[in-house]
Amino acid sequence: MTTLVTGVFLLLLSVAGVVSAARYITGDVLRLPSEASRFFRWRSDDDEVGGTRWAVLIAGSNGYWNYRHQADVCHAYQLLRNGGLKEENIIVFMYDDIAFNEENPRPGVIINNPHGDDVYKGVPKDYTGEDVNVHNFFAALLGNKSAITGGSGKVVDSGPDDHIFIYYTDHGGPGVLGMPTFPYLYADDLIDVLKKKHASGTYKSMVFYLEACESGSIFEGLLPQGLNIYATTASNAEESSWGTYCPGEYPSPPPEYETCLGDLYSVAWMEDSDMHNLRTETLHQQYELVKKRTINGNSAYGSHVMQYGDVGLSKDSLFAYLGTNPANDNFTFVDENSLVPPTKAVNQRDADLVHFWYKYRKAPEGSVRKTEAQKQFVEAMSHRMHIDHSVKLIGKLLFGIERGLEVLNTVRPAGQPLVDDWKCLKKMVRTFETHCGSLAQYGMKHMRSLANICNAGIQTEQMAEASAQACVSVPTGRWSSLQKGFSA
Ligand SMILES: *[C@@H]1O[C@H](CO)[C@@H](O)[C@H](O)[C@H]1NC(C)=O
Ligand SMILES: *[C@@H]1O[C@H](CO)[C@@H](O)[C@H](O)[C@H]1NC(C)=O
Repeated sequence: MTTLVTGVFLLLLSVAGVVSAARYITGDVLRLPSEASRFFRWRSDDDEVGGTRWAVLIAGSNGYWNYRHQADVCHAYQLLRNGGLKEENIIVFMYDDIAFNEENPRPGVIINNPHGDDVYKGVPKDYTGEDVNVHNFFAALLGNKSAITGGSGKVVDSGPDDHIFIYYTDHGGPGVLGMPTFPYLYADDLIDVLKKKHASGTYKSMVFYLEACESGSIFEGLLPQGLNIYATTASNAEESSWGTYCPGEYPSPPPEYETCLGDLYSVAWMEDSDMHNLRTETLHQQYELVKKRTINGNSAYGSHVMQYGDVGLSKDSLFAYLGTNPANDNFTFVDENSLVPPTKAVNQRDADLVHFWYKYRKAPEGSVRKTEAQKQFVEAMSHRMHIDHSVKLIGKLLFGIERGLEVLNTVRPAGQPLVDDWKCLKKMVRTFETHCGSLAQYGMKHMRSLANICNAGIQTEQMAEASAQACVSVPTGRWSSLQKGFSA
């Protein structure tokens, strides 16, 4: 069994390809004398942006192998507080199962960088556990207190002059974002809520930073201009996003950590924001810098950062949304002074396997822990193989051996949404899961195939028949179980 696990893992690594990381010289942050720094500060007569800054921060996952998403969110909270935002204006959604997780080598502490300080301290528990769900996220964003269930009841109670910043980090798939609860969040519903928020006239402008696999698909062909929303995403509509500071990669977390500490796009925008006077840096400048860092020297370990919506807003300074830390007043943003060497990163979808693998490798021979890690690894792998196999087989049953894969893998041209009929997509998800078990975190990658089944005009009954034929049995185990509900 050991050799099987090793074999599967090595196979995985070889597929990913090992690319040696080239290194850039990391320049120190440029320090400018105050005269010069005043010169670089446009809008220096407009320090107060008017209105209130609001933020919604959400980590859509749970489980220790997903440490990094909650670490990202905690870091974002500290950053905004340092920038001067008030606790009452920052709404935090996180499952909160990391800091005191039995796997956490530093109980009560969360870090987001190998050398980073604790970012968990002081983070408000607005929505934790089962209260982290699509319903509460939408209600909070819309400022609808009466629609909230559980949690602190804090909502974005904003007015027409206010600025709103939303940051979401998790797993995703084409057209979908994960949640630690069911159902997941679908792009069409999110866009509807954003339109509703705009129609209520309760903000001046909004910035949405999104980290997830295929995150471009959430806005591609869907987010219209004119809502005063500027969005950037960790990846385009058809690629994975990346975890970083992962065990065995460069740079590594401290040796006692068997999990990734952050995500590539997320730490890129936060580590940049952490060190500059944000009055002197525009959204556009940050976009360019984050894009450069996230493409990671064009290595296999990186993704394409995208921008959507009212791109003209990106001439705003970050200060309007994130505030600025007074300690950074003399650290003016200058292009190129923030380049960070490319890193070896881990595909978001493989970060759980990395955790199980390191847990397995480091556990003492013959220990319960070793057996448990092996079981977790094998369960995750067999769920993956089952899902991949079933989707492929359904494609062949519906479209024929020849055309099956071609139809499933079709990517629509840029500017077009994933699917025309989102109700159909959700119905296909439920039909698939009824027969084949939960798609779960990993299975979100197949949303494009399910969308293409809709785009091809397949009816629910045909899908049900094909699914029943493809899935005669469903592997047991936590990944396959439908106990917690459908993901649509
Ligand atoms: C707030 O939510 C409640 C319950 O879901 C709903 O009935 C009401 O219409 C919502 N109010 C607004 C202003 O959207
Ligand atoms: C910035 O530089 C000026 C001039 O050297 C100095 O007086 C001021 O204390 C510095 N501010 C910070 C926050 O370091």
